[in-house]
Amino acid sequence: MKTDLIELLKSNSTIVENELKKYILLKDNHGLHDAMAYSLLMGGKRIRPFMVLETYKAFSGMNDIEKALPFACALEMIHTYSLIHDDLPCMDNDDYRRGKLTNHKVYGEAKALLAGDTLLTYAFEVLASNEYVSNRSIVLAAKTLAYCAGGFGMAGGQMIDLNSGDNIKSLDDLKEMHSLKTGALIRCAMLLGYYASTDVPDKAVVESLEKFATNVGIAFQYRDDILDVISNKETLGKQTGSDDKNGKTTTLTFLSLEEAQDQVNALTNEAIYAIDMCLGEKGTVLKELAKFMVERDK
Ligand code: IPE
Ligand code: IPE
Ligand code: MG
Ligand code: MG
Ligand code: MG
Repeated sequence: MKTDLIELLKSNSTIVENELKKYILLKDNHGLHDAMAYSLLMGGKRIRPFMVLETYKAFSGMNDIEKALPFACALEMIHTYSLIHDDLPCMDNDDYRRGKLTNHKVYGEAKALLAGDTLLTYAFEVLASNEYVSNRSIVLAAKTLAYCAGGFGMAGGQMIDLNSGDNIKSLDDLKEMHSLKTGALIRCAMLLGYYASTDVPDKAVVESLEKFATNVGIAFQYRDDILDVISNKETLGKQTGSDDKNGKTTTLTFLSLEEAQDQVNALTNEAIYAIDMCLGEKGTVLKELAKFMVERDK
């Protein structure tokens, strides 16, 4: 099954990247698009679009992913914008991302800032231009993407992270930050996939998807914090020791490496339980993905 998942990740990545290329190479917006394309097309695991597409398939029982593809691309644009800004000198001040120099190292800070802004706004244009779903689905998706990327989602989590030394006093505080800065876009992925399949969402399903995604999101950031300590730039594609350099409060402030990995496994099991309750057999790919995210080394 694991090999199948890797194959599926690869084939979905190819589909998403070809689609992203079409969007981004469409027109040169006053010299911004090379910086946008640089970060958007330079790799990345494409986990969030994978979740959008596979959640859509699980609920619709169909393989006609054109309904979900614009939502998947929009989310990857938001994620990429968040990485460009996260790497800026005023934030984590990092030099490498996805195996290459960070956006501001190549294009300068001002253009990196604008490339991020433009990916953020372009995402909503792409999402709203989905011709294959109802207007109601588009409204649901737009509201969710805005909420999850905003002050009660990713950006809010990044704000807590900026001053993590003062803001994070306990493991519960840390989980709250992880659930926002990383969990929110993962919750968004699951919901966008679901909204591509229906415009009359079931409240209980939404709750189960959010439970799955929150656990996966926290586990994913735990693993990211672990890799920042135990991995290396060649494998990870980004500089390790970034959290220590910035004096960040992370998972390893509260837990040993072993305890942290145990927590990652426990959170993943909770996530798997939630998706099992909701999707049963149809959730197999998402369960495999949750396991992959725990064991990943990049
Ligand atoms: C990195 O996300 C930022 C975090 C939320 C930890 P990914 O590990 O998914 O990065 P890419 O998209 O594969 O580069
Ligand atoms: C998550 O945290 C970043 C975002 C939400 C954009 P990190 O700062 O740890 O992510 P990396 O390690 O730089 O990818
Ligand atoms: Mg950061
Ligand atoms: Mg960072
Ligand atoms: Mg990190």
